Amino acid sequence: MEENHRRWFSSQALSLPVLALSLLLMLGSAACAADAAPRSAPSSLAQRPGHAAIASANFLATNAGLEVLARGGNAFDAAVAVAAALSVVEPESSGLGGGFMAVLHRAKDGRDVFIDARETAPAAVNSKDYLNPDGSPNRDTALKGPLSAGIPGEPAGLALIAQRYGKLPLRESLAPAIRIARDGFKPDARLRDAIAEEQKNLRRWPASAAKYLPADAPPVAGAIWRDPDQARTLELLAAHGDADFYRGATAKKLIAAVHAAGGNWSMADLASYRAKERAPIIVNYRGYRIITAPPPSSGGVAIAEILNILSGYDLGQLDQAHRVHYIVEAMRRAFRDHNDYLGDPDFVKMPLQMLLSPYYADGLRQSILPDKATPSSMLPAAEAAQPGMHTTHFSIIDADGNMASVTSTVNYTLGSTFVAAGTGVLLNDEMDDFALVPNQPNVYGLLGSVANAPAPGKRMLSSMTPSIVIGPTRTAVIGSPGGSTIITQVLEGILHFIDGQSAQQIVADKRYHHQYLPDVIFVEPDTFDAATTAELGRMGYRFRLGDPWGSNEAWGFMNVVTWNRSSNRLDAASDPRHPSGLGKVQ
Ligand code: GLY
Repeated sequence: MEENHRRWFSSQALSLPVLALSLLLMLGSAACAADAAPRSAPSSLAQRPGHAAIASANFLATNAGLEVLARGGNAFDAAVAVAAALSVVEPESSGLGGGFMAVLHRAKDGRDVFIDARETAPAAVNSKDYLNPDGSPNRDTALKGPLSAGIPGEPAGLALIAQRYGKLPLRESLAPAIRIARDGFKPDARLRDAIAEEQKNLRRWPASAAKYLPADAPPVAGAIWRDPDQARTLELLAAHGDADFYRGATAKKLIAAVHAAGGNWSMADLASYRAKERAPIIVNYRGYRIITAPPPSSGGVAIAEILNILSGYDLGQLDQAHRVHYIVEAMRRAFRDHNDYLGDPDFVKMPLQMLLSPYYADGLRQSILPDKATPSSMLPAAEAAQPGMHTTHFSIIDADGNMASVTSTVNYTLGSTFVAAGTGVLLNDEMDDFALVPNQPNVYGLLGSVANAPAPGKRMLSSMTPSIVIGPTRTAVIGSPGGSTIITQVLEGILHFIDGQSAQQIVADKRYHHQYLPDVIFVEPDTFDAATTAELGRMGYRFRLGDPWGSNEAWGFMNVVTWNRSSNRLDAASDPRHPSGLGKVQ
């Protein structure tokens, strides 16, 4: 019987995607649940909340956004203010030397747009730089120092948002961040711990040590910490837009610092960087419209695929174990596809029509047995794709109903740990999100395919999944950091929102995660009760406490804003796992 099951799994799994593709070709795209429509026409369009809400990972950043709203800015100006403030107060997660992805909803015309400020590979990228002489992966060059850094996208992305969507000049939206960097602030425990954890690496580069270990030691609790170099770089951004960062004095300093430390960026790499607007992925699920991230994020495609599979089940009628079973099986199948197909849309042809199709989801659903886990080894092998805890997400709704869902990152804790001398800019280590060495897992345990191989000017695949959910009477702006777990966190948050949960409940919910390989359900302490754990165990599931990169702590730092359009109530909630966050309604 067991053997029969195994054969059935294997043949169904192999043939169904092919069957689904043929059906698609026969039927065209008329019935696609996910599309790239650029406008929401929710009943909310005629409505405005009349007040605003922001949730971010740091109270100083939330307050920076609220300050800019009070000066007459909209949600997009506030997004610029929050992102810039986070670059100062939460540099372990995001900053000018990194990149971001955002989903924006403009209230006046319902426009939904995805802002892609993801980093790119420099023209001189060379896979050999990420190998040791014996051909084994060199994790140091992939994660530390200038070779690990992609060309930053954050300054260009902030300038784009300000210019095309904001109401205020950068000078005003960047003012709070400049003030905090210049006058100083008290680093929270997360930042102090991050610096302590990375001090050995920070000491490898004089400008990094000077910035983060000013008295030759990590900052101590309660002491004021200033960032004058970054204040100056932000002032130049405020005065000249992104021209200085990519083509001016800051660009020259970045190149000189990178070269001096063995990196390979050129002035042309910086000058040719562009943030891009893309059509978001839109998926309709149980009367809710989910607006989410397209490639070069894998997140939206995975969320759409999972929701399309789940639309065939009445999750509300199931006991907890079976609900988790179907959700995990959908996660497993979506992560398998993510591994195989996805990369930078400007470089790679991706079968998005297939992956986003309900017919494809129907086929995948049929390969799920009602009471039994599908071993990942029974699904067709992933050819081998990629994409930290140290990323950050914030959510904003303004008084007019404009919304910004923004996830920003320097990748791993304190990125590359390399600060470019004279700029205060800490560079990312996003090159590790490429499949630098085929079939070798990155820092998040994710494998990579040829679709995500590095190439000059190419964007590395991301898991960032900033999303907006618009239902019949309620709206949510949602996202989280967490490497590969971003996708499953956002998925679970969306499902909980649709179940009627509040912003406070959504950020506090216990999390679980499956990413195809390793074939285990990652859980936080007490995610499931004993009966659910036992029932899932009987179905064949194995569990691992902690996240896929080996920490046994709770994961994620979700920041959510919700708007109940019936009662016109706004709520903002920051993940209770981290005390530094703040969700605030004003
Ligand atoms: N660097 C984490 C991500 O982009 O998914």
